[in-house]
Amino acid sequence: AGPCDIYASGNTPCIAAHSTTRALYNAYTGALYQVKRGSDGTTTDISPLSAGGIANAAAQDKFCSNTTCLITIIYDQSGRGNHLKQAPPGGFKGPEANGYDNLASAIGAPVTLNGKKAYGVFMSPGTGYSNNAASGTATGDEAEGMYAVLDGTHYNGACCFDYGNAEISSTDTGNGHMEAIYYGDNTAWGSGAGSGPWIMADLENGLFSGSSPANNAGDPSISHRFVNAVVKGGPNKWAIRGGNAASGSLSTYYSGARPSVSGYNPMSKEGAIILGIGGDNSNGAQGTFYEGVMTSGYPTDATENSVQANIVAAKYATAPLTSGTALTVGSSISLRATTSGYTTRYIAHTGATINNQVVSSSSTTALKRQASWTVRAGLANSDCFSFESVDTPGSFIRHADFALVLAANDGTKLLHEDATFCPQTGLNGETSSIRSWSYPTRYFRHYENVLYIASNGGVHTFDSATSFNSDVSWVISKGFA
Ligand code: AHR
Ligand code: AHR
Repeated sequence: AGPCDIYASGNTPCIAAHSTTRALYNAYTGALYQVKRGSDGTTTDISPLSAGGIANAAAQDKFCSNTTCLITIIYDQSGRGNHLKQAPPGGFKGPEANGYDNLASAIGAPVTLNGKKAYGVFMSPGTGYSNNAASGTATGDEAEGMYAVLDGTHYNGACCFDYGNAEISSTDTGNGHMEAIYYGDNTAWGSGAGSGPWIMADLENGLFSGSSPANNAGDPSISHRFVNAVVKGGPNKWAIRGGNAASGSLSTYYSGARPSVSGYNPMSKEGAIILGIGGDNSNGAQGTFYEGVMTSGYPTDATENSVQANIVAAKYATAPLTSGTALTVGSSISLRATTSGYTTRYIAHTGATINNQVVSSSSTTALKRQASWTVRAGLANSDCFSFESVDTPGSFIRHADFALVLAANDGTKLLHEDATFCPQTGLNGETSSIRSWSYPTRYFRHYENVLYIASNGGVHTFDSATSFNSDVSWVISKGFA
């Protein structure tokens, strides 16, 4: 049985079931998600390999080979049509045209389930999905349950990495107008024990870890690589539960009355569905979503415990984030452009600016050193890499406002994330494209001989689709120095 078969037998059926990794019903054979590729703008649906099975990741890889792909739709498997699509502007605008949020890269979150490759939804700041016309979701004070399987190492403190019930207008319409799972280390409202990240409930104008609107010590920091986050709510009762989605059982972190401040009892749920954003389209948060559902009715703990066992049996595990030319930690490399007319240029720096300069064996020692980079284990994720300047030890290539710059390692989580890159087989077939770990839609790209992390056809000038594949493909060789 799948998670939604279990909820159905508990008389709290799924009214929305979202996953890019697997079918959530035993009999489900329909589409799991849709991807759109950069080369020609066409889309394709990715379905399970068999009824109730794992997503056909190979079909995605084939469709997306030598180009970029975005996840455009996360289909609802419940039959209600509660699909998640690119979120529109609300109280806040997203970064895309007309204020829409970004879509996620299709390859930012590779995993295996029972040894078979699949992809989750890696959501950078600015990314969001929603459905403001969902059917069957709880409204008013009606009861509902939900869970989401997330990456416990990918989070931040911005508002708000949510999955669940929110406003149909994408604006803040007041306390109690949403009820969603929150995951991250935001402390602007509530918090739990330790320094986070925490599973909390976003009930609008507050992230709640228990009945107090502030700190509740019963809600622990939780950061398993795969986290199962559970929130449920009904008339004057609600609960937060959580656990390791790869082993063991769920614990209850809060179960009791609604918050002790006004506006949350009774609730005024509106029944839209959001993923990766707050109720008002606040979109600064980051996180990774693999699967999740929303139910009609308040699931029993026993039902949720059976769902947890089902998730553990799916055997989520990590998969490589890199491909193509292997890099050796500690070695010095240089990276040569492959765009016609630019093939004598290498990634170098002039002060803090990362640029594309003509370098050769007869260049000065100073320039050779400016164009040489020591390979380090990724500062935010050791499955990827960071690039330390040979002539300025302690300084790394990072992105800031999507430009590449040379910056000292200040030890912050943001710098570590901004300085972590995952090389993959080059989009134009030449050795390597260097994907940003934290913004996997974006790659090292030269544009007018300055380096950026660029997306294929995005809103910035340097995101231009013209010559994108060549501009993001590099030949990696032994460093000049
Ligand atoms: O409740 C926390 C956040 O507050 C909501 O997600 C958002 O709508 C508002 O800014
Ligand atoms: O480069 C994009 C973002 O811009 C980085 O993550 C952040 O450091 C800067 O604000």
